[in-house]
Amino acid sequence: MMSVYYVNGAFVDKDDALLPVTDLAILRGYGVFDYLRTYNGQPVSLDANVARLRQSARLIGLGYPWSDGEIAAIVNETIQRNGYDESSIRIVVTGGSSPDNITPNGEPSLIVMVEEMQPYPDWWYNRGVKIVTANIARLYPGAKSINYIPAILARQQADADAVEVIYSTETGHVLEGTTSNLFLVKDGTLITPHLERVLPGITRRTVIDAVKVEFAIKERDISLDELYGADEVFITAANKRVVPVITVDDRTISSGQPGPVTQRVMQLFDAVTYGVAKQV
Ligand SMILES: Cc1ncc(COP(=O)(O)O)c(C=O)c1O
Repeated sequence: MMSVYYVNGAFVDKDDALLPVTDLAILRGYGVFDYLRTYNGQPVSLDANVARLRQSARLIGLGYPWSDGEIAAIVNETIQRNGYDESSIRIVVTGGSSPDNITPNGEPSLIVMVEEMQPYPDWWYNRGVKIVTANIARLYPGAKSINYIPAILARQQADADAVEVIYSTETGHVLEGTTSNLFLVKDGTLITPHLERVLPGITRRTVIDAVKVEFAIKERDISLDELYGADEVFITAANKRVVPVITVDDRTISSGQPGPVTQRVMQLFDAVTYGVAKQV
């Protein structure tokens, strides 16, 4: 079945979803996006994702003529028109065409792309995954910019069996993955980098809110050595949920198996996502 996308006021078949090649997204990589998925057919964190999209646009100086309610209504309609059991949703705002090919003309484009949700393999969650680190930096880390050059470069250079690359800094700190946030567990406390230099992941937030009654949480700098010496490590993202990590840069984390805290976090996360969706 071909997906239906929303493009600048119209719902069209994916194959007919077009933007002018003069768009600043193509000429200058100027645009932002957001991504979320449904649980039991409902876009659980839609308000938070729409708020982050607005904030991303603000951070890169991109005009944003829509209200949060308008965007949410368009997203909901696109989901309904596609009718998948579970959808993955990408909302993209691009700079639009520009008279001098660099100054935004105040007419950004809005695209909503809905596809059937494709889950990651079960073994990621049962056995845990390998991640690697790379000393690469993201520009405007608070914004979900469409420019994923650092991510694509980092992944091209990563070991083939690594499912994610974590950005590290010159000072030996680890930040976030190319498309995920990072947590470690030490002595029963969850530790994750504070938001200064990472994307405010919605899954990160959901995890913190879901587990804070059971576990202490610290948001602070994490050194690479501390990551290697963690009791447990996991990554979070809307499409990945909570993924246990058993290897970082060829170093085995603890016993090399998903740990008890991570397993409890996965349980609590599933309860708030699938659970909340069921009540809608
Ligand atoms: C750089 C980066 N950090 C973190 C995340 C996780 O964010 P979320 O939980 O909202 O999917 C993503 C998602 O793609 C990302 O690209």
